[in-house]
Amino acid sequence: MRISVIGCGYLGAVHAACMAELGHDVVGLDVDEKKIAKLSQGLPTFIEAGLPELLEKNVREGRLRFTTDASQIAEAQIHFIGVGTPQLQGRLGADMSYVNQAVDTILEHANPPQEGKPVLIAGKSTVPVGTAQAIAERLTTSGRNIILAWNPEFLREGYAVKDTLTPDRIVYGLPDNQEIGAQAKALLDECYATQLAADTPLVVANYPTAELVKVAANSFLATKISFINAMAELCDATGGDVTRLAEAIGHDERIGNKFLQAGIGFGGGCLPKDIRAFMARAGELGVDQALTFLREVDTINLRRRDHAVNLAEEAAGGRLVGKKVAVLGITFKPDTDDLRDSPALDIASRLWARGAELAIVDPAAAETLRERRPDLTVPDTVEEALQDADVVMILTPWKEYTQLDPTTILPLVATPNIIDGRNVLNPKDWADAGWNYYGMGRGVPTW
Ligand code: UGA
Repeated sequence: MRISVIGCGYLGAVHAACMAELGHDVVGLDVDEKKIAKLSQGLPTFIEAGLPELLEKNVREGRLRFTTDASQIAEAQIHFIGVGTPQLQGRLGADMSYVNQAVDTILEHANPPQEGKPVLIAGKSTVPVGTAQAIAERLTTSGRNIILAWNPEFLREGYAVKDTLTPDRIVYGLPDNQEIGAQAKALLDECYATQLAADTPLVVANYPTAELVKVAANSFLATKISFINAMAELCDATGGDVTRLAEAIGHDERIGNKFLQAGIGFGGGCLPKDIRAFMARAGELGVDQALTFLREVDTINLRRRDHAVNLAEEAAGGRLVGKKVAVLGITFKPDTDDLRDSPALDIASRLWARGAELAIVDPAAAETLRERRPDLTVPDTVEEALQDADVVMILTPWKEYTQLDPTTILPLVATPNIIDGRNVLNPKDWADAGWNYYGMGRGVPTW
């Protein structure tokens, strides 16, 4: 199929490359010339496992091209919208300007349906419920005969290629009109023929359901994380160990053991802004009470960052001024170079504001951090960061940091204080090697 993907960020670039890998003829469109220049050479603009290979191969074999020239999307049969919907400055709601611009672009440049074959817009961006209906009405008013489906994306950074090529479910939000809905479904079925043939579960629903599925999923994940972090607070108050607690409740299949990792909380470009935009939308719809609990989810999450800063101060003897803190890991999670709403970066910034001397290392984001925050010290090696440190904090669980040997690195630091911001270390090993171990809700583990 001929496909266009509007927006070539995390979502769009991965989607474009994966659609080409499935055999489609894909053009990716973005306004950012630098991004397009790199992608056109088959080079990704961010770190994502498996993406460089897919880009290189599909660009070379001619199934995938990238452009800033919107007229190039004219012949596509499906136009995927994969632009960002970031949080509005100083407000809870989402910025919808990129989605609206994408619709403008498609209306201006897409060819009308040829030989009775419909043309479809498939929205993938995470949007406030009601957006699809509003876009569909715009399409009707425009008289352009273009139809719309909402087809949310559930990819995780770090697993984006796998999640797109072999998703755990596909969701179609279709128009209420049965005939038009069937046309939209047929086009999406053709596009996802490979996944559907592999028995990927398909959920077909109306527009609002499809839009809600996405924010409901992210809200549930955020709630799970904040739940276990609330339990971490209880463990801290009582001497319990939240990692054992999570393990024990996770054996109950109804609860499950995933997304119960307590620590410094969730961040990134999706979970935090999605729960806030969801609350804002519920307010507009007059059902804000239904989502009041998400405010608490957000509050618990942000309190984890305060807790980590306070723990560092406690470990440093009550005052951070002039104390060297080694921060290991700064991205919002491992296997990505994404710094958007990173809990680690927020904590580091607050430590700096309290007078700490920081040494931050990260395997993927060091260069970006140096450019964006020239005020922060970013040494080249972990050893340099650890040298004479008063407090060491693991804030993003990159393998290279979780596998550090406590005995080998002990002589480097000034005082052996280790804060395990993601509960990924073995407290006993570190304590036995002579470190003061601070976990996140791990009490004093004796078993
Ligand atoms: C999230 C969702 O997991 C995806 O399904 C969704 O498609 C995506 O948002 C999106 O809306 O585009 P992602 O932002 O890549 O994916 O990150 P997650 O893997 O969900 O992690 C989010 C944050 O939660 C990270 O900071 C991570 O460290 C933290 N986390 C995760 C915990 O603190 N504890 C856990 O147990 C799990």
